[in-house]
Amino acid sequence: MEYTTLGSTGVEVSRICLGCMSFGSSDWRDWVLDESAGIELVERARDLGINFFDTANMYSRGESERILGKALAGHREESVVATKCYFQMDDDDPNSGGLSRKAIEQELDASLDRLGMDTVDLYQTHRWDDETPIEETLRALDDAVRRGKVRTIGASSMWTHQFADALHASDRLGLDRFATMQNHYNLLYREEEREMLPFCENEGIGVIPWSPLARGYLARPTDQAEATARGESDDLARGHPYFQGGGQTINERVAELANEYDATMAQIGLAWILDKDVVDAPIVGTTSIEHLEEAVAALEISLSDSDVDWLEEPYEPVPVSGHE
Ligand SMILES: NC(=O)c1ccc[n+]([C@@H]2O[C@H](COP(=O)([O-])OP(=O)(O)OC[C@H]3O[C@@H](n4cnc5c(N)ncnc54)[C@H](OP(=O)(O)O)[C@@H]3O)[C@@H](O)[C@H]2O)c1
Repeated sequence: MEYTTLGSTGVEVSRICLGCMSFGSSDWRDWVLDESAGIELVERARDLGINFFDTANMYSRGESERILGKALAGHREESVVATKCYFQMDDDDPNSGGLSRKAIEQELDASLDRLGMDTVDLYQTHRWDDETPIEETLRALDDAVRRGKVRTIGASSMWTHQFADALHASDRLGLDRFATMQNHYNLLYREEEREMLPFCENEGIGVIPWSPLARGYLARPTDQAEATARGESDDLARGHPYFQGGGQTINERVAELANEYDATMAQIGLAWILDKDVVDAPIVGTTSIEHLEEAVAALEISLSDSDVDWLEEPYEPVPVSGHE
């Protein structure tokens, strides 16, 4: 396994982060693994040297956190655990969502309880909250750090101007600043290259992209997009503009290069994102041990500059997707 420093935090993380949205409860999404298979996946990830795990309170409404905590019991110190808050957890309680002090304090305690941990390594805001001033959110997060419940704070998808406002507010108020950005980025969705990624590079922010395989669409030919359990039912995947612009041509080129490199399409998609200096660790989602092993093996693939250019060449701007 390769390790890298997460942004400017000094924390060493594996270059593959295991996304834990894929396990929890199949009652939440039918493609989600239940407990025993989820634990097996985490154990194999640890065997492969993965030390970085990303979950959220909303994944399977807390089940993902509970299973991750169970799988990591006895291995807490050597793991870097990231979770998030923002989405409403209880339909009857509007304060179980958003980024108010009340929501953050309650949801963080609930996450720690499910994880069975005293501290979370990286606590992330899942989305921007239009209803709460960012100063209020940052003060609550900073207090959580001071109380020892959180080591580092991070953010997920938002506009770059919002992220810049948040960093500026932290600096102005002398509070801990967001150290990481978890954003939507892959070969079929590159809108983040305009503003967010150069901004993160400038600010020393750790970048940990979500859906690096376009929710599976980069891992198989376009005509098989819906050929898996998740492909069939994942409305969010269909909602992203993956096949607009040059998407289909890019997908064909990924398949061609997979043949040339004697690799799978998923490995070419991951080799491409791993090659980006600004990216610390893509967050890979899988329900399969074999696919997890493929992701780790993708670290050994080095694409030539001309192949990278050829993969990128058909891309055309597509509508912003993931935080709008
Ligand atoms: N912050 C946010 O708003 C946000 C949003 C979405 C996701 N996330 C995070 O990012 C993580 C990853 O998201 P994602 O699951 O959408 O990511 P992804 O890695 O882009 O897509 C996962 C899909 O790719 C397929 N896949 C993976 N490896 C494969 C391989 N080698 N061959 C064929 N298919 C393969 C998986 O199928 P199999 O299950 O069959 O392997 C699964 O259907 C999540 O777990 C979560 O932690 C965050």
